[in-house]
Amino acid sequence: MEAFLQYNPTRLWFGKDQIEKLKQDLGSEGKRVLLVYGGGSIKKNGVYDAVCEQLSQMKAEVTELSGVEPNPRLTTVHKGIEICREKHIDFILAVGGGSVIDCVKAISIGVYYDGDVWDIITRKAAAQKALPFGTVLTLAATGSEMNNLSVITNWELNEKRGWGSPLAYPVFSILDPAYTFSVPLDQTVYGIVDMMSHVLEQYFHRTENAPMIDRFMESVLLTIMEAAPKLVKDLHNFKLRETIMYAGTMAFNGLLSSGTDGGDWASHQIEHGLSAIYDIPHGGGLAIVFPNWMLHCAEEDPSRMTKLAVNVFGLDPSGKSDLELARESAAALRTFWTELGAPSRLKDYGIDSSRLDELVQKSFMKDKVGSYKPMTPETVRDILIRSM
Ligand code: NZQ
Ligand code: ZN
Repeated sequence: MEAFLQYNPTRLWFGKDQIEKLKQDLGSEGKRVLLVYGGGSIKKNGVYDAVCEQLSQMKAEVTELSGVEPNPRLTTVHKGIEICREKHIDFILAVGGGSVIDCVKAISIGVYYDGDVWDIITRKAAAQKALPFGTVLTLAATGSEMNNLSVITNWELNEKRGWGSPLAYPVFSILDPAYTFSVPLDQTVYGIVDMMSHVLEQYFHRTENAPMIDRFMESVLLTIMEAAPKLVKDLHNFKLRETIMYAGTMAFNGLLSSGTDGGDWASHQIEHGLSAIYDIPHGGGLAIVFPNWMLHCAEEDPSRMTKLAVNVFGLDPSGKSDLELARESAAALRTFWTELGAPSRLKDYGIDSSRLDELVQKSFMKDKVGSYKPMTPETVRDILIRSM
């Protein structure tokens, strides 16, 4: 294992009716709160009313910012920063999925930065101070509710950038699985693909002797794979929703990288390139790319894929070469996602090879893409062509 610090300051309130913890956790009365949400799902499913009830009990002075886009945009972050400054906001509350939370993270650090917050997102400047924020999660997917990462799209530049800061952890997150009943089937599937991809990215590490973390990861994958096929047929099942919601948070809150090199993450970079140009759902893009990344890497080093094949997909290794088993592992992942209803080809989103060069270039927003196998523009191109 590598030396590591295990640290996560986010208070997680998990379970039915935990919204009641909102006023308790927000503390003193009379705070000036910026309530941030997306396109309005929270007004249809009752979450907005439940949140407002809490805020009114603590006599908060509430200002709203609505309309945060899926794949949240820099322009909306700018709006939020302006409101916080004008209204002297004390606390930001994100109510929604990963997009709303990521937008709030960028607002919270942008408020105290004199330049354009894009400098921090693109790592040209470091965040020095942040407005505290909390979240009420409505969609199980990204893990943003308990990590310090955020992904923001600059639509003018067609760049989708991930960034992180020790200041970007939510103070608290409230997770009531019942709040996810209304998540439609397609978004439920994208969320499942995303959380599985987070575990898989971390599983593709090169650290020797991490047996416990490997088994933690395998157990998260097995748990999701047991619940997901039942959930897609029974979207209002509380037990299945709670299993998936907890798995999504644990998949990407730092725990599963303890003591390892952190894993690969090339598939995420490639997906961010796709969303930056075509604005597709994150989980949909990952469902297409990830198994093709595995097939691409199998020839060079099938070792982690063979482990996955046996320990997670339950494949029988006897009589098979490592390469055969690794390919079967990628096929098993593809079949699992396809049976849930995830897309498998870029043409499912109407994407062809006409902007291939640009897609390759947009995958390289970080100095380094991939760690299990460091990518070059040629290798990314190969994965994208396999995905067409
Ligand atoms: O906008 P509203 O009306 O709320 O509708 C949303 C949106 O249309 C809807 N939704 C959310 N909760 C709902 C609901 N509909 C009905 N009932 C509910 N309870 O779902 C749609 C998608 O929401 P979004 O927040 O975009 O989804 P998700 O949570 O998958 O977030 C995706 C974003 O997170 C980034 C992705 O790149 C993408 O931008 N990621 C963030 C990460 C992080 N911060 O750690 C890591 C991830 O790898 C990922 O990159
Ligand atoms: Zn993701």
